[in-house]
Amino acid sequence: MQIRQVSAAERADTFFPISTYAFMPSPWEAGAQEKYAQRMRFFETATSLIAEEDGQALAGAAALAMRQNVRGVVQDMAGVFSVVSHPDARRRGYVRQLMTRLLRQTREQGSTVSALYPFRPSFYERFGFVGVPRHRRATFEPEGLKHLLKAELPGEVRRVHMTEGFDDYTALTLRLLGERHGFAVYDEVRAGEFRETPAPWVAIARAGGEVVGAVTYRVDGYGGELVAGDLLATGSLGRALLLQFLARHVDQVAKIVVQIGTDEVPELWGTDFVVTTEGRVDHPRRGGPMVRLLAIEALNGLHTPAELGVTVEVTGDELLAGRYRISGEAGTLAVEESKDEPAATLTCAGLSALAYGVLDPVEVVVRGFGQVDGAAVEALGALFPKQMPYLFANF
Ligand SMILES: CC(C)(COP(=O)(O)OP(=O)(O)OC[C@H]1O[C@@H](n2cnc3c(N)ncnc32)[C@H](O)[C@@H]1OP(=O)(O)O)[C@@H](O)C(=O)NCCC(=O)NCCS
Repeated sequence: MQIRQVSAAERADTFFPISTYAFMPSPWEAGAQEKYAQRMRFFETATSLIAEEDGQALAGAAALAMRQNVRGVVQDMAGVFSVVSHPDARRRGYVRQLMTRLLRQTREQGSTVSALYPFRPSFYERFGFVGVPRHRRATFEPEGLKHLLKAELPGEVRRVHMTEGFDDYTALTLRLLGERHGFAVYDEVRAGEFRETPAPWVAIARAGGEVVGAVTYRVDGYGGELVAGDLLATGSLGRALLLQFLARHVDQVAKIVVQIGTDEVPELWGTDFVVTTEGRVDHPRRGGPMVRLLAIEALNGLHTPAELGVTVEVTGDELLAGRYRISGEAGTLAVEESKDEPAATLTCAGLSALAYGVLDPVEVVVRGFGQVDGAAVEALGALFPKQMPYLFANF
């Protein structure tokens, strides 16, 4: 077996048969491979690795060139996808070797963090990944928001096809990339496909000449459902404008379903508001995303309220292993190699959980991601206060 990097064009002959078999209904229809080949121009900037034997691709793993905000710092992110092996080649360790090389290579290419949607989190935990929240879905009847119908809000919402709204929508996601912890976006090459594909509606909210919110959606029928994507807003006004727009579908649709982050509390959107907020995770189809640091330097510059330092040792990970002093000063973190005795020993998943704000030091220990001395519990908790990330991109 040898591992080889393939170009986007080669993915049609190498990835298509194994990925389509794994992820799509099969046997697939005639012409599916040609359609796949046509889409591959949107994957030109992805890193695609295959494990092949006698010229046949038996397994693959790939990463999209993305960016992500981690506690205020926008980092290059390897968005891992197309992790797959041929049924005859499973349990031979090929995917393990591919993942190890993919993470190393994307780090060499400059990515400091990585994210993926797992078929089963325990598989990726062994590669240093830790879970972060999956989006929630709020389901409600538009009547519940009727108080908004008459509200005078300083702004307006326009509905367009994504083909027309793509630039505004993309600009808003880039603004949120800079402002929102965990938020991840594609590069221009990959994102290009969403301008061209049969486009959903996108409602774009503007106030004072600025885009302050956007939501993609489709209506599945008169009296049916309005199914929306992520409710993206720069603040309360953007959200209120979008909710007002959704409320106008009263008497047209019976239900509205919208995706939200864990910091949204839909029951507070209105008085007497009947809503179900669901965070559903199951495997293999609806995994909560997972993340990891690929380079210790990813910690430099992260926002922190603490003014103190702690020495930690990271073990069991080829990319992060070492002893480091992590200090908070004037609002940001700095990390440097250290020879001091460590006050905590962490796995990559443990340090990543702290950096992304999803677990506190006690939970890191409880989950088996390391050992933390008594005093370091408080210090690490102060350096890395809990802060739930919102990944947004779904790849
Ligand atoms: C998931 C999949 C890629 C694993 O491929 P594989 O070729 O069996 O992986 P490997 O042989 O390299 O396994 C690596 C390790 O994970 C373990 N492993 C494999 N599948 C596992 C599973 N379903 N659950 C837990 N561990 C698993 C292996 O035992 C092996 O352990 P080891 O390192 O101690 O030997 C393959 O089963 C597949 O293609 N499934 C369908 C597509 C899919 O779900 N892809 C993942 C999308 S996120």
